[in-house]
Amino acid sequence: MIGCAQKISVAEARKAESIGRTVLLQGWVRTRRDSKGGFSFIELNDGSCLGNIQIVADCSLPNYESQVRRLTAGCSISVTGVVQASPGKQQTEVRAEIVVVHGAADAETYPLQKKGHSFEFLRTIAHLRPRTNTFGAVARVRNCVCRSIHNFFQEEGFLYVHTPIITASDCEGAGQMFRVTTLDLANVPKQSGQVDFAQDFFGRAAYLTVSGQLEGETYACGLGKIYTFGPTFRAENSNTTRHLAEFWMIEPEMAFFELEDNMNLAERFLKRIFSDVLSQCPEDMEFFRQRIDQSVIDTLQQIIQSAFLRISYTEAIEILQSSGRQFEFPVQWGRDLQAEHERYLTECHFRCPVILYNYPRTIKPFYMRLNDDGKTVRAMDVLVPKVGEIIGGSQREERYDVLVERMKEQGLRLEDYWWYLDLRRYGTVPHSGFGLGLERLLQFITGLGNIRDVIPYPRFPGWAEF
Ligand code: 4AD
Ligand code: MG
Repeated sequence: MIGCAQKISVAEARKAESIGRTVLLQGWVRTRRDSKGGFSFIELNDGSCLGNIQIVADCSLPNYESQVRRLTAGCSISVTGVVQASPGKQQTEVRAEIVVVHGAADAETYPLQKKGHSFEFLRTIAHLRPRTNTFGAVARVRNCVCRSIHNFFQEEGFLYVHTPIITASDCEGAGQMFRVTTLDLANVPKQSGQVDFAQDFFGRAAYLTVSGQLEGETYACGLGKIYTFGPTFRAENSNTTRHLAEFWMIEPEMAFFELEDNMNLAERFLKRIFSDVLSQCPEDMEFFRQRIDQSVIDTLQQIIQSAFLRISYTEAIEILQSSGRQFEFPVQWGRDLQAEHERYLTECHFRCPVILYNYPRTIKPFYMRLNDDGKTVRAMDVLVPKVGEIIGGSQREERYDVLVERMKEQGLRLEDYWWYLDLRRYGTVPHSGFGLGLERLLQFITGLGNIRDVIPYPRFPGWAEF
């Protein structure tokens, strides 16, 4: 009978359909409790779902005294046994016939004992936090979101394009890039007082990319609709709950799309992700609702059902100025919106996601299409309650002369962008795209307050452990 045991997941074993099956389960002990009747209850988790399965281990097991009764939180085991209906809260439990202990976990030193731990503490043991309920749920929701993203674009006929991670151009023009070099830092070659990057690995200065957009545009302007999905890096020294030095960005880019098409796509895209998460991760979302933020499920449901508001930057400034609120940062046409302003709009004024568009040219990157007013560009930011900006995008400047002007205005060296300018010299087309920050999106979905808790290994100023 034991010979025909099938390896299944805890998620599967928890279903009533599994009753009667002889199965092999493998995972980590969450708790063990001994009963007076001569058996022990082991809560086993394997990461396949939030819930554990209860293993009933009888004292007749040959290793009962020597091993089973010594199991503690964190021990790894294989259990062969029969799934049966449980008299308790859960539907099923497993009566163990064999328990193999793979690894002990010393209760004196294993950091994940039963009591709750602060997220700050768990960040210092990021290698063990995947074994907790919260980080298991985050990992599963993150996986679900990524699958949904690929499904959405694949079904819509987008091509997945891999843009480079090492680059020589600064997409956002903000200069917040990490340098990539193999030069000997103790003995840097110089040429007339300056570092001589001609001697560096690439024969020039190189960086980690802040965005795949510029290369993405070259593929859109030949293949139509594409998307990138990869890591991006920003050396901005912001120690906030919404910034990471390494984060993942999804960037679709579409030829023949104008700003409104871009907004429509972004809205459909987000709604699709939210409905996939609600239907595919109900147990994890219920956990976030109970433990992190009561409103997460309702908020997503409401968003799926209603249209995103679309207002211009100029209108947003008027709303903020007449709000009667004292903001830390001044509200003035021409200044960038701060998180507090974005949150006022989405949380207090509109209470829903908002797409802001037509920002002043002076606060947005060179590639955004200039409007006829000469003052604003066809930018769009999607703002959501609590997190603020989750998407930034625009219609791109497809007119060669206007683009060159904008680049000069922002002090960029045209020769560094010769290939980007070529797109405007040969068969230029109106096109648009946007970037969705994966971790900001996950913060919004899960309700977790700190972006460092929705990525496995956060990188931020002063921290690159693991
Ligand atoms: O608004 P951003 O800077 O836009 C771009 O990079 C464009 N090139 C995208 C495009 O049009 N293809 O960044 C896009 C999104 C932001 O809205 C935010 O969600 C996220 O990336 N983001 C960050 N997430 C975490 N940590 C940071 N430091 C982030 N900076 C931006
Ligand atoms: Mg932005």
